[in-house]
Amino acid sequence: MHPRWAGRCESCGEWNTILEETVAPRPGPAAKGAGRPVDFVHLDGSAELPPRCPTGIVELDRVLGGGLVPASAILVGGDPGIGKSTLLLQAAAALARTGRRVLYISGEESIEQTRLRARRLGVQDTPLELAAAINLRDIAASLRTPGDTALVVIDSIQTMWLDSIDSAPGTVAQVRACSFELIQLAKAGRFAVVLVGHVTKDGAIAGPRVLEHMVDAVLYFEGDRGHQFRILRGVKNRFGATDEIGVFEMTDRGLAEVANPSALFLAERHGNIAGSAVFAGVEGTRPVLVEVQALLSPNPAGQPRRSVIGWDGGRLPMLLAVLEARGGLRLSATDVYLNVAGGLRVSEPAADLAVAAALVSAATETPTNAGMIYFGEIGLSGEVRQVTQVDARLKEAAKLGFVQATLPRRIARGNRPPVQPNGLELTEIGHISDLVGAFPRE
Ligand SMILES: Nc1ncnc2c1ncn2[C@@H]1O[C@H](COP(=O)(O)OP(=O)(O)O)[C@@H](O)[C@H]1O
Ligand SMILES: [Mg+2]
Repeated sequence: MHPRWAGRCESCGEWNTILEETVAPRPGPAAKGAGRPVDFVHLDGSAELPPRCPTGIVELDRVLGGGLVPASAILVGGDPGIGKSTLLLQAAAALARTGRRVLYISGEESIEQTRLRARRLGVQDTPLELAAAINLRDIAASLRTPGDTALVVIDSIQTMWLDSIDSAPGTVAQVRACSFELIQLAKAGRFAVVLVGHVTKDGAIAGPRVLEHMVDAVLYFEGDRGHQFRILRGVKNRFGATDEIGVFEMTDRGLAEVANPSALFLAERHGNIAGSAVFAGVEGTRPVLVEVQALLSPNPAGQPRRSVIGWDGGRLPMLLAVLEARGGLRLSATDVYLNVAGGLRVSEPAADLAVAAALVSAATETPTNAGMIYFGEIGLSGEVRQVTQVDARLKEAAKLGFVQATLPRRIARGNRPPVQPNGLELTEIGHISDLVGAFPRE
C-alpha cells in the first residue's frame, strides 16, 4: 500500500512497477447498526458429504477428489498456452454430453475461435452453451436464473470486468471482485464454477495466487512446452485430498488421458548409460516411476556449477556434501547437472537415494542395473531413512518389469525373505556408504 504516488517499489527496488488502484470507501459496520448475533452449533450434528458430479474425464475427476462439487469454486491456474482452455472445453463438453447443463464463457476468444477449437477436439456436437463475454454484470444476470446448471467455466478470470470497480480487467481489484461475485452466484445457484487463471511472470496482471484463499479447490496445470505431457496438480481441496495428479498428453486432437504415466516417463530411457537411475516415486496416491539423470564435468578452476531441473535445487548441495563427507566421493571441483527426465517435477525427499545413485553412477562411470529402482530419504549423517508407501512403489516397479529395488532398511520383523511376492529382489541399505560400495571404485 502506498498512500501517495511512488516511482520506485520499496520492497523490490524496481522502477515504474507500481500500479495505481483506487479503493472505493465502504461504509463500515458501525454505519449499519449493531449487527445480529451469529448462531453457534455443536460439532456433532448432521453433516452430509457433498454429492459429486463426475465430468467423465477420469484424470480430472481424480484430482477433484471424485468429481465436481455443486456450489463450489475451482481455480485452474497455469502458464499461458499450457492447455487450460483445451482441458476445460473438453471437460465441459464431456459433462454436457451426459445431459447436464454446462455454460462456457470465454473472455479471451471469439465464438468462432472456440468453435474451431471444439471442431479440432471433436466435441462440436455436444449441447454445451457457449458465450463470449467479459462484462460481469451481464454474466451475473444470466447466471441468476441458472436452472439446473451443473458447471460454469469462466475463461479467464483476468479478462472479466465489473463496472463498479474503477480499474482495468486483470488488476487485483477486478480479479478479486469478479471472483467474489461469481463465487456468490455459484453458491446461490448450486452450480460449480471453474475460474481459469493465467500465471503471470511480470505481475502486470494479477496472478491466480490472489484468489487461492477464496476458492474451494486450486488446481495447477503444469508442463513444459517442449514436452507433450501435462500434469494437473491439486494444491488445495476443501472437499478431498490434495497432491493428487492427473496426467495428460497434448496431441493435435487435444488432451489425451494417460492411464499409465510411468510408462510414458520411462519411454525414452536408454539403459547402460552411467548417470541414470530410476526413482520409484509417489504423487498423491499414485506411484510414478521417473528417470533421474546426472552429468558431471570437471571444473578444477572456477566456482563449480550446480544445475537442477525437476527437483529441489536446494537439496543437491546437501546431497553432494553428504556424498563427500560420508561416502568418500570427490565432487567439489566438478560441475553437476541434474535432470528429472521428461519434465516431471519431483518434490518427495524419497528421491534422495535415486539422485545419489545417479550421481555415484556418473562419478564411477558405471551404469546402474537396468532393472533396478531406487527410493529412500538421506539424512545428514549419511543414513538412509524410511519413506512411506513402500508397497505401492514396489508394486508399480514390478508392473513395469523392474526386478530389483534398493530401498531403506526396514525395521526387522522376523526373517524377511529378500525376494518380495511380486518378484522383486530387494537390497535394503542403512547408509549411503552401502550405495557407494555397490559401485566399483577406481
Ligand atoms: N490449431 C491448433 N492446432 C494444434 N494445436 C493447437 C492449436 N491451437 C492450440 N493448440 C495447442 O494447444 C495449446 C494451447 O492450449 P490452450 O488451451 O489455448 O492454452 P491456455 O488456455 O492454457 O492458454 C497450444 O500450446 C498448442 O500446443
Ligand atoms: Mg486459454
